[in-house]
Amino acid sequence: MSARFTLKASNGRSDIAVGEAMTALPDALSKYARPGAKVAVVSDAAISGRQGKPLVSGLTGAGYDATLLEVPSGEKSKDLKQAGQLYRRLAKDKFERGSWLVALGGGVVGDLTGFVAATYLRGISYVQAPTTLLAQVDSSLGGKTGVDIPEGKNLVGAFHHPALIWIDPAALKTLPKAHWRTGMAEVIKYGAIWDAKLFETLEKSADDLMKGYSPAWVPIITRCAQIKADVVSKDPTETKGLRALLNFGHSVGHAIEGATGYEIYSHGEAISIGMFVAGFLSQQYGLMDGIDRIRLGTLLTKAGLPARVRRPIRRERLMEFLARDKKAEAGVVRFVLLKGIGKAVSGQAIDPEYLDAALSASGL
Ligand SMILES: NC(=O)c1ccc[n+]([C@@H]2O[C@H](COP(=O)([O-])OP(=O)(O)OC[C@H]3O[C@@H](n4cnc5c(N)ncnc54)[C@H](O)[C@@H]3O)[C@@H](O)[C@H]2O)c1
Ligand SMILES: [Zn+2]
Repeated sequence: MSARFTLKASNGRSDIAVGEAMTALPDALSKYARPGAKVAVVSDAAISGRQGKPLVSGLTGAGYDATLLEVPSGEKSKDLKQAGQLYRRLAKDKFERGSWLVALGGGVVGDLTGFVAATYLRGISYVQAPTTLLAQVDSSLGGKTGVDIPEGKNLVGAFHHPALIWIDPAALKTLPKAHWRTGMAEVIKYGAIWDAKLFETLEKSADDLMKGYSPAWVPIITRCAQIKADVVSKDPTETKGLRALLNFGHSVGHAIEGATGYEIYSHGEAISIGMFVAGFLSQQYGLMDGIDRIRLGTLLTKAGLPARVRRPIRRERLMEFLARDKKAEAGVVRFVLLKGIGKAVSGQAIDPEYLDAALSASGL
């Protein structure tokens, strides 16, 4: 089963294909890039051999002047130094306005490559070919690109939508378990904020899904990509409160990640705890009943995601990061809360006593 749809935003558009093989990408590109164009596939060490080389051969076979550019695996590659090396390589290889980049990898490769595409020659076209669950359902869609600086993650960036997002779920066959969990946290988030039917499907099949790739993932990834495309189309620059819904669980999640130096908790674990906190608050404020709150907690737990921190974090330190979150305005922390499974509201100001109880319930 495959699907094609388009993300149409005021600041750009992307064609999206889900469920077609990576080997079909070179052919699909011929609709966008002129024959003979230079194409650089940017990938990281974990995937460049297995998936990068065959893709470059395919692109060469389809008549492109294709090369493979490898960056080291991990968040440390998402920086200005790495971007600088890529700019210089592209310039040496005489990449020009009609040349293309392909981001083949997870969110790190996607954000870095997108940022280089947004800025090299003031912007060239690129393709996202995501290979992690998180990248397939989240980071490859929406046009946010960027790099980290020592003062903070994602502080330098640009909006630049890829012309094409090519999502082949079979590319996840080799993805390690921990990364499945991180992606699953975002998948559960989509069900919780937007789609009760998706949430029910996850409830029924979480155990099987968590075993790794199977064709059952294709409709789930398709639905999540559609939701993200839908939300971003309606609120591309996060000004209408709609794109903010995608931050469900993320205020506390980001604070946990920041307060622990991004070393102890994966993003998925951190936002899982954040979703527990937000679920608790949603019930406290009478927006969601206890049954739905338990359903949310049960599904996260089934996916191997935590409800609580493993070790306490000093409350003042957590609050410092919570207030620093870009979602906080004038020191008031605002949360995305649920009105039940499948329905969310953004911008909810939280009473300090309620926040205290909710954080304590997750060991914070
Ligand atoms: N732009 C956005 O809207 C957006 C949204 C969410 C997250 N992000 C960013 O995404 C990044 C995280 O992305 P991620 O979780 O994909 O991490 P990642 O890109 O580091 O990938 C995780 C690990 O999996 C490996 N890997 C990738 N694909 C594989 C495969 N198919 N088989 C085996 N190993 C594979 C990678 O080498 C890496 O070690 C963060 O930098 C975050 O800020 C961006
Ligand atoms: Zn996230």
